[in-house]
Formats: sequence, structure tokens, C-alpha cells
Amino acid sequence: MSDSYPLPKNWRCPLDPPAEYKRLRQEAPVTRVQVWDGSTPWLITRYEHAYEALGDPRLSLDFRLPGFPHTSPTSAARVERVLPFPFREDAEYRVQRAMLVQEFSPRRMETLRPRIQSIVDERLDAMLAGPRPTDLLAAFALPVAIRVICELLGVPYDDYVYLHGLSCTIGSRDSPKDEAGRALEEMDGYFQRLVEANVSNPGDTLVGRIVAEHVRKGALSKQDASAMFQMLFHAGHGPTAYMICMGTMALVLDPDQLREFRAVADEPRQLSAAIQELMRYVTVSHSGRQRVATEDITLGGQLIRAGEGVLVQTDSANRDERVFPNPDRLDIHRTPHRNLALGHGIHLCTGRALALIELEVVFRTLFQRVPTLRLAVPVEDIPFKQNDNLLGVHEMPVTW
Ligand code: HEM
Repeated sequence: MSDSYPLPKNWRCPLDPPAEYKRLRQEAPVTRVQVWDGSTPWLITRYEHAYEALGDPRLSLDFRLPGFPHTSPTSAARVERVLPFPFREDAEYRVQRAMLVQEFSPRRMETLRPRIQSIVDERLDAMLAGPRPTDLLAAFALPVAIRVICELLGVPYDDYVYLHGLSCTIGSRDSPKDEAGRALEEMDGYFQRLVEANVSNPGDTLVGRIVAEHVRKGALSKQDASAMFQMLFHAGHGPTAYMICMGTMALVLDPDQLREFRAVADEPRQLSAAIQELMRYVTVSHSGRQRVATEDITLGGQLIRAGEGVLVQTDSANRDERVFPNPDRLDIHRTPHRNLALGHGIHLCTGRALALIELEVVFRTLFQRVPTLRLAVPVEDIPFKQNDNLLGVHEMPVTW
């Protein structure tokens, strides 16, 4: 048993996972780490084990099971609340997830592409008309990601500063338990009111459709619906906004790759492969995927007993030299290989089709319209969110 988790990261190379993962992949790919409350879950760092673990139904995301590896007080605070579907017991989870399958189908998401393009164009027009340097997060990445999810769900866009603030408190490992609890409470109140409004008058939005089809017919409680929509709001904007910032950073710091990217951006297949490579390289959901064993299993030759916690470190897996040659190099022509940035197995990201379309539109448009985009300060001066479940920034000054 070894390190305390999360492992220290060198913020001068913010796009690289902690260097220690390389040694662990080699010497102790399934090992124990100590988390904030003194418990010692298993840490998985190799791709093959991460892939196997995320695909194994005996490793559960049910937050309430004893031994579940809560990596922060905020995570632990959630146990006392109505949990969103991904963190529920298996049968309930499957029922609620099935309600969303059609809503997020690739075909349906594809119909949003023109609207996403106009949101991106509008935000870029506004950014380019404003002062230089500017903060890419506040001027572009957040407004784009939040407007898309707000329109899809049917959440008033004007409420986004308030809701994003609550999301940040919930996602930060620094938030004390009572503060995180209060933020969860407020978020819940907000979405309960949205559910009520749709019960009386369902809108032609995702929230309206779920309420009409499932809440009004008694198949989904109002509480569960509120938890579901909170989850969709939270998961549907933060990772996308930070991926826009971190992906931009990766490209502007590597002028050769940026040149290559701009050369292929009009070719849909190559654009899609380039986005996959950016997702792999950045792995913005960089905190370990939390699981608990419901039966004894063996992973990488190591016995993991029922009731023991597991953290599947996908940022490390995505830099595994056994799978990705020269893994620390961004290479937008890399032969596509399934990376784990959007997860794998039953909990594979619900919004993946939407996220990929947003990122394709964003990066193609951003670098075509603003070819001279660059950081306005050295990387060392960028305020990163150093204790967050996502690899993100407080702000990212850019100029052009
Ligand atoms: C770049 C953007 C995104 C990234 C990197 C990302 C990443 C992930 C990852 C890694 C998981 C798996 C969690 C686990 O296995 O423990 C996940 C699940 C999920 N994501 Fe995303 N996501 C993104 C965008 C979105 C969007 C736009 C939505 C839309 C609402 C969304 C909704 C969800 C939901 C609901 C889950 C839970 C799925 C389940 O447990 O069945 N995500 N996401």
C-alpha cells in the first residue's frame, strides 16, 4: 500500500497525468491507495485492467454500498440524498437509464448540429467583438456548453451563472461537506420547481417529455426526475466546457499538431479521429471512476474482495504505452483505438453523441475563424482547478 490519493500532479505540465502512474502501470498496476477518510481502495492504472473493470458488472457504481470509495466529502455527502440514476441500485438504474436512450440517440443528437453551429458562431462573434485578451472559459466554452444543455433540457439559460456556481461547489474536492450539502439542496430545489412546472404544463423539451411520459404516468417520482435532470445538467456542461479549454490548450501549445488539425478539419472522418485523440490526450474526467466490488473478483492477478472499493484511473489508462505508442504525444493522425475518456461498459457516457458533435463543431469553427488564437499568459500562470473531479481552469486568458 502506498500513495495517498489523488496522487500529486505537476501543474507545469497540466495536460499530463501524475508521473507516478507510469511507475504504477509498470510495477503495481492494481494497488491500494489511501483516500481522505482513511479508507484504502484499489487503484487501477493499466488500460487492459481499466477496460476489464469498467466492463465488469460485479463492480458497481451504487453509492450506498458499504466500501464504496468516496474520494471527497462531497461524494460522501451525496449518500444522504436522493441519488441520480447512475449511482443507484442496479434494477432502478436500468429502468431510468432506459428512459433516456432515445433522448440521446446519435440520430436525434445529429439533428442538433445546425443549432450547435449557430450557438458556436454567435458566441465567437461576441468574443471576437470584445476585448483582447479574454477568458476563453467565460467568453466561449461555458456559454456554448451551457446553452446547448439548457436548450436540450428546457432550463432557462439566464439561470446558468447560479446553476454553474452550484455545480462547481458540488464538483470540488475542497468543498466542505455542509457547503456541498447546501449546494445539492439548492440544486434539488431548483430542479424540483422545474419538474412541477412541467407537470402542469410539459414543454417540448427533454424535461417536458420525461415528465409527460414517465412522471405523469407514475413510473418516475418527482424526486427521481429532479435528481435525473440535475445529473444531466451537471454532467452535460462541465466536462464539455473544460474539454473545450483543455483541447484548445493542447492544440495551441503544439503548433505542428494545430497545423495538421486545421488541414483535416473539413474532412469528417479525420476530424472525428482528431477529436478522439484530443479526448484521449486530455481525459478531462480525470478523477478515478469509482466502483465497489459486489463479489470477489480477480483483476491483474490481484484478488479484490466483495465490499472493497476500486478507482479506475482512465487518464492513466489513456496514456498506457502498451496500447498507445508514444502515449504522451498528441498525434491527431493516430490510428483510432478505443480510449476511455467517455468511460466504457454499462456506464458509458449517456451524452457521448452530443459531446462529440459539440466538440467537432467547436474546434473546427474556433480554429478556422481564429487561426491566430493563442494563450495570453504562460501555462504556469493559468489558474487550474487543482482539486476538482474534472481537469479544468478557473479562467484561461487567450488572445489572437
Ligand atoms: C467532453 C464531454 C464529456 C465527457 C469527457 C464525459 C465523460 C463521462 C464519463 C467518463 C462517464 C462515465 C462515468 C463512470 O463510468 O463512472 C460519463 C457518464 C455520463 N455522462 Fe458524460 N461526459 C461528457 C459529456 C456529457 C454530456 C454532454 C452529457 C449529457 C447530458 C453527459 C451525461 C452523462 C451521464 C448521464 C453519465 C452517466 C451514465 C451512466 O452511468 O449510465 N456527459 N461521462
